[in-house]
Amino acid sequence: MSLYAIGDLHLHFQSVLKAPGQLREPVWQDHEAVFRRSCEALVQPEDTLVLAGDHSWGRNMAECERDLEYICALPGRKILLRGNHDMFWDAKKTAALNRQFEGRLFFLQNNYAPYGDVALVGTKGYTFEGPFQVRGGRIVGWDRAEEARAQKLVEREAQRLEASFEAARADGFSRFILFLHYPPTSILERNSVFTAMAERYGAEQVVYAHCHGAHRFHDSLEGRHHGITYRLVSGDYLRWVPEKIL
Ligand SMILES: [Fe+2]
Ligand SMILES: [Fe+2]
Repeated sequence: MSLYAIGDLHLHFQSVLKAPGQLREPVWQDHEAVFRRSCEALVQPEDTLVLAGDHSWGRNMAECERDLEYICALPGRKILLRGNHDMFWDAKKTAALNRQFEGRLFFLQNNYAPYGDVALVGTKGYTFEGPFQVRGGRIVGWDRAEEARAQKLVEREAQRLEASFEAARADGFSRFILFLHYPPTSILERNSVFTAMAERYGAEQVVYAHCHGAHRFHDSLEGRHHGITYRLVSGDYLRWVPEKIL
């Protein structure tokens, strides 16, 4: 039994592709077929595959149906995180999605998924990417209004993450692996509310996605930091081969 993770499939079987770079970069060429083949070669029926958000470019459920069918047909148990582009997933309707896809997909938010004696916890997360403008490694501008808005999003996501940890702890779990869509820290941070919570609950790993392109792959923590292993699993970074987490 193995646990794998990867993020940012950005499928668009029925919707308009909103990132033109996805057409130009070789790593995205026919990536749906490349990813399906690598899953079929790697992931066994008893394995778990966490998909760390940004599943589809679709603007609503009707535009995501084929994308979700594609995910349902992948091998193993599939657990989905909410990414910033997942418009089909109303944050208040996670329980309804879990009922709709029961036995096929599990949507991770305000809840947790057991994996042996480990609880898989997680939420979308949020990092400050807008409040400051960086040029040549120097901060050249700061937007206070945007900072306040971002801080609210971080607080809401921190509450959702705490609900996820607490749900697992209430069921007796003491081992945790934490999944986020956004990186746990911005390019200006070494610590955040998310890394602090990971440390407080004793999470063994923090797994995140969202960073695309070689110039963004190293924006956040990687490897060991305060006793926790941090891993980036965006699909283009992994070249569509799921990362073995456990
Ligand atoms: Fe993405
Ligand atoms: Fe994203």
